[in-house]
Amino acid sequence: MNILLSSYTKGALHLKNHLVMAPMTRSRAIGNIPNDLMAEYYGQRSGAGLIITEGTAPLPEALGYPRIPGVFSQAQVEGWKKVTAAVHANGSRFFLQLMHTGRIGHKDNLPEGKVLVGASSIRAAGQISTDKGGLQDHSAPAALTTEGVKEVIRGHVVAAQHAMEAGFDGVELHGANGYLIEQFLNPNVNTRTDEYGGSIERRAAFAVELARNIADSIGKEKVGIRLSPYNTLGDMQPYPEVFETYRYLAQEMEKIGITYVHIGLSPQVQQKTLEAIRTSFTGTIIQCNGFTPETAEAALSSGRTDLVAFGRSFLANPDLDKRIAGKQALNQPDFTTLYTPGAKGYVDYPVEAKMAGEMPVHS
Ligand SMILES: Cc1cc2nc3c(=O)[nH]c(=O)nc-3n(C[C@H](O)[C@H](O)[C@H](O)COP(=O)(O)O)c2cc1C
Repeated sequence: MNILLSSYTKGALHLKNHLVMAPMTRSRAIGNIPNDLMAEYYGQRSGAGLIITEGTAPLPEALGYPRIPGVFSQAQVEGWKKVTAAVHANGSRFFLQLMHTGRIGHKDNLPEGKVLVGASSIRAAGQISTDKGGLQDHSAPAALTTEGVKEVIRGHVVAAQHAMEAGFDGVELHGANGYLIEQFLNPNVNTRTDEYGGSIERRAAFAVELARNIADSIGKEKVGIRLSPYNTLGDMQPYPEVFETYRYLAQEMEKIGITYVHIGLSPQVQQKTLEAIRTSFTGTIIQCNGFTPETAEAALSSGRTDLVAFGRSFLANPDLDKRIAGKQALNQPDFTTLYTPGAKGYVDYPVEAKMAGEMPVHS
């Protein structure tokens, strides 16, 4: 694993290896506040060059799932400080994923008085887990007004500032998997007639303004975005101009100069779209979804991607870097404890290799 475990530098991003821990919702944040258990979990996985947190709500309306953390209150910022300290102690870099779930949610998961919002008022098919009533149909979203969209953007900027105060190295905008940014991008879900709907440029304006305003506030080198072209999660249906949409987005992200574009691959994704993103965007590309250490090494050596992210393998193998180095077998994830509260299936995955300390890498 010559490339995967070697250090990486591009622009302001310096990592001790090419191994990224993918963002994964784990629903351990009781009261939506990060805690000691989460600090232990992320600290255990700090063999990664870069860790991206689980989807984190920038605003109370963004709390689509039960027990996900937020980054809108001071108590949440204080909670995250413990987590960033645990990750930085081992020289890993740490980005917070800003996830506005938009129409993917249920009113029972939201704080009192908050309503589910979306690009339009089209309800998502399917169900979502709630602590009050188990699995329930998604609630119908209220379409954001034009001023409401601008308020959501301002809320993300404040959330990104909070992330900086909490000690993160940057933020990742969750533009993938059918959440609010993708709800704006996809014309099947975005039927707006204002400046945020219609043409490709207008549907992408929400993502572009988010990235630009956050970059202006905290620094462009501290911003990444996750995209999933051709994604069907979150009741997303394909549309004719996916290629043009993502090429345009990559070009805009290049103009802003953000640090990375993180791509969630899917069987439907077209090669030419990946190539257009790669050639339009000169910053770091991260690819994720379904990689093994062997396929990751091959992707890195082909030059298709700069870094590779692992989800379930990191979830089940806190010492993934050591296991890859030692060519050891990987634990399999326990799917019954993915989202359950408490330590079980969270911080108790067996560690085979010794977690030796790494020299911190400074930018
Ligand atoms: C339990 C779990 C929670 C996830 N939560 C998120 C999330 O909050 N944000 C996100 O962008 N992706 C999320 N994902 C998707 C992962 O980041 C990743 O794309 C997926 O696990 C596929 O990669 P893998 O094959 O390496 O596991 C989640 C995946 C899992 C298994």
